Amino acid sequence: PRRVVTGLQPTGELHLGNYFGALRRCVQLQEQGEDVMVFIADLHSFTGRQEAGERQSRTLQAAAAVLAAGLQPERAVLFVQSAVARHAELCWLLACLATHARLAHLPQYKEKAATMKEVPVGLLLYPVLQAADILVYRGTHVPVGADQAQHLQVAAQLVRTFHHRYGRAFPTPRALLPDDGSDRIRSLRDPSKKMSKSDPDPKSRILLTDSDDVIRLKIRKAVTDCNPQVTFDPEGRAGVSNLVRLHCLARGLVPEEALCEAEGLTSAQYKEVVARALCECVAPVRARLCELAARPRLLHEVLRHGAARARRRADEVYERVAELTGLPPRL
Ligand code: TYM
Repeated sequence: PRRVVTGLQPTGELHLGNYFGALRRCVQLQEQGEDVMVFIADLHSFTGRQEAGERQSRTLQAAAAVLAAGLQPERAVLFVQSAVARHAELCWLLACLATHARLAHLPQYKEKAATMKEVPVGLLLYPVLQAADILVYRGTHVPVGADQAQHLQVAAQLVRTFHHRYGRAFPTPRALLPDDGSDRIRSLRDPSKKMSKSDPDPKSRILLTDSDDVIRLKIRKAVTDCNPQVTFDPEGRAGVSNLVRLHCLARGLVPEEALCEAEGLTSAQYKEVVARALCECVAPVRARLCELAARPRLLHEVLRHGAARARRRADEVYERVAELTGLPPRL
């Protein structure tokens, strides 16, 4: 059976990259009747530093954003990763199958580790925990942005190693990457980089909580090039193409249609069109997010219910893992 599983880190406010790249696609899969599980990856956030209070409030805010994007807690399962202890338990078993060499060679690890004097072991284990997140539910399809593709390869490799060592327990999970470019939304300030929560420049990303004025300002300041024409050439003209892409995603267009609307406009004029489209797209999400943020009791209730369902599913899978590995049965 197919099962869609994905996670979001509570390390910063969610932006349009998270929304188009993961959140909105989860909601679409839910609408198509898929079995969707979404969690807030609070354990992953420990690879960076965060105050306890901040972690807690960001976790709740991220959950609110998932609901605001349209995930329905009656149809899909929404929970906080740490509420299901099986993630960490399976992570340990998988960590004993992963090799240091393989993990230390992953580009994301190398880049991050290069900026640190003391590299926590948890950073190395980051993709192993991510594999556990998926496998503990026998996840088959993982909607993510392109930046997560390599982590999914680690998960697939761990499935193979597990099978060789102990026997079949998991299907091989696949990254669900879209073909509309929503898996790689770029920074508005440096289109060679992805839009990211951790970019020090807040103008590099549009948040789901940004007001219309802020959205307009950020789009106006978006870096393009000295050619005032609007064309779609993601390789050669990443900046303006990123705007075309955002326009398309906000309005459900293909690039040719967006370019039609841009006809006769300079890139500066076109930015107003893009900003309007994004404002319309973000406004309803922002409104729901605002309502939900004021209802922490409701959020806690949804998360409690989601965690109970997730725990039952994880226990079922773990029973098989225990049987194969010689751990005592615990159900
Ligand atoms: P995170 O929290 O960085 O991002 C959440 C989701 O948003 C996607 N994303 C983007 N998509 C398109 N363009 C962008 N600029 C962009 N930036 C982010 C990410 O690819 C992701 O899908 N390691 C994960 C969280 C995680 C996870 C998992 C995901 C933990 N366990 C298991 C899937 C399955 C992360 O840090 O995502």
